[in-house]
Amino acid sequence: MDIIFYHPSFNAKKWQAGLEQRLPQARVREWTPGDRAPADYALVRQPPVAMLQGRTDLKGVFALGAGVDDILNQLREHPQMLAAGVPLFRLEDTGMGRQMQEYAVWHVLGWFRRFNDYQQQKSQALWQPLRNPGRDAFTIGILGAGVLGRSVAESLRYWGFPVRCWSRTPKTLPGVTSFHGEAQLSEFLSGTRVLINLLPNTPQTVGILNRGLLSQLQPEAYLINLARGAHLVEEDLLAALAAGEIKAAALDVFAQEPLAQDHPFWTHPAIAITPHNAAVTLPEEAMDYIADAIRQREAGDMPAGQVDLARGY
Ligand code: NAP
Ligand code: GLV
Repeated sequence: MDIIFYHPSFNAKKWQAGLEQRLPQARVREWTPGDRAPADYALVRQPPVAMLQGRTDLKGVFALGAGVDDILNQLREHPQMLAAGVPLFRLEDTGMGRQMQEYAVWHVLGWFRRFNDYQQQKSQALWQPLRNPGRDAFTIGILGAGVLGRSVAESLRYWGFPVRCWSRTPKTLPGVTSFHGEAQLSEFLSGTRVLINLLPNTPQTVGILNRGLLSQLQPEAYLINLARGAHLVEEDLLAALAAGEIKAAALDVFAQEPLAQDHPFWTHPAIAITPHNAAVTLPEEAMDYIADAIRQREAGDMPAGQVDLARGY
């Protein structure tokens, strides 16, 4: 079995060794331009079109992340990149759920307990207990109730916050109030104090975090964007912060990455920034997951994580 590998920054040799250890029958090679030799599987992030184009024999393409918007955007421009019938898979969780939980819980507890305000008071040597918002009024609304959205919901339920989710199709999640579809978006937003975005980037969700949406949240709302920069209309966030509709935001993803040196987000006192690493691909977990999926494919089964190309995630 032949596997080709391409990632703009991962250590290909490490993946080659790790996959060959897990799949002793596999020969794994890093794909380089001009390589047209046969392959059964491809593991990719931001793959050049030439890597996949014309490969009608592929039994699967595995995205080396949870989001597949980069590949699907390329496919829209180059529909011939993936031969008809070749399934595309993505990573489901593989340790990213816990990382997202850490990120969300850290910010939510910080805002709930007003640690930023105490930090400011410290700079003035000010001993002043502040009132917390009531826990019942600190409703967390999660856009997306998929693998990562559900994981984050569970962690915030543990801390006793009211949690609600919004998804495309109806959900029944223990202890979580569920909303779905355009018709229920306003009702979902109007009860939300902390909005966490974990939607995929699709033509339907691009730009969803705009002024109109942000203005429907509870007063003094908070925003955590963990999904994609394309979801946020950046100037709308600045306007919503200036108008007091949003009290603070934690952003992991940006329209342009890395964020430009002179971007106004860097100096905004109410915006926290991380460099798109809320949940990274953990190589060992990801290799276990992909090796297991390849074994299932070889046995004639269809593993979890298949991307619906028409739906866009
Ligand atoms: P997922 O399992 O596919 O879940 C996506 C959720 O979004 C589903 O609940 C889906 O609804 C909902 N959804 C999709 N389109 C919608 C629409 N138009 N309206 C309402 N709901 C919609 O994805 P995941 O594994 O949780 O990952 C989510 C995203 O996180 C990824 O796509 C990626 O962009 C991002 N991510 C970021 C990082 C980072 O480091 N910042 C790391 C990993 C992933 P249904 O359930 O009804 O289908
Ligand atoms: C990272 O952003 C991912 O989609 O895995």
